[in-house]
Amino acid sequence: MGRESEHLSDESRHRQRDDGDLARRTRATRGRYDRIARFYDLMERGAESGRLAAWRSRLWAQVKGSRLLEIGVGTGKNIPYYPSAVEVTAVDVSSGMLQRARARARALGNEVDLRLMDAQHLEFADDSFDTVVATCVFCSVPDPVLGLQELRRVAKPDGQILLLEHVRPEGALGTLADLANPLVVRMMGANINRRTVENVRQAGLVITGVEPLWRDIFKLIVARPGKA
Ligand SMILES: C[S@@+](CC[C@H](N)C(=O)[O-])C[C@H]1O[C@@H](n2cnc3c(N)ncnc32)[C@H](O)[C@@H]1O
Repeated sequence: MGRESEHLSDESRHRQRDDGDLARRTRATRGRYDRIARFYDLMERGAESGRLAAWRSRLWAQVKGSRLLEIGVGTGKNIPYYPSAVEVTAVDVSSGMLQRARARARALGNEVDLRLMDAQHLEFADDSFDTVVATCVFCSVPDPVLGLQELRRVAKPDGQILLLEHVRPEGALGTLADLANPLVVRMMGANINRRTVENVRQAGLVITGVEPLWRDIFKLIVARPGKA
């Protein structure tokens, strides 16, 4: 052990361990999505041709302002819904997913500023965006509260945050989701037992609406940053 680390306080030692663990979990998430990127659209085809497309339209109809940020753009399934004449920046932690989003934007002739970036450490100034959107993302961000705090930071004080997320169901199904979760994460990258509405609150966002879309599982969450 070097002199410097010998003198580290317990608190900074814990922080280093936590940072190391988060970095490891983030690398694992990126690896999973890099691996499934080329199958992702195929895996999601059923859901997309079903209700998901309608839910996306519903969310994008609520977008306001001229500077938008999409978190976890994935293969770019929201790109066809982007309003015209707005400036959209979209980020993802997986270069494999981002590569597909780039191809989709090109095919649609849509100009999108696509960047490789971790939602837990956004490289944007405070108060930058009118609307921040994420669809089916906070099920896989390793530290969802940290990520949601970053959304709050980069949203303008009078801006909004729109989330389409699946969450942990109540009752026996919830227990089943807890049991199945480790396997699902390994195969699909997503946690099926996240309490995202609670996480949004914990991040300091002010929820203005939670619309149930399917059972108590899929929800459209509308929030404002709740800062002065
Ligand atoms: C289930 S996919 C959803 C993709 C897209 N939003 C959609 O609706 O089809 C989850 C996406 O979140 C991305 N993601 C997970 N953790 C992330 C993080 N920490 N920062 C940015 N993106 C992340 C994954 O790489 C993946 O592309």
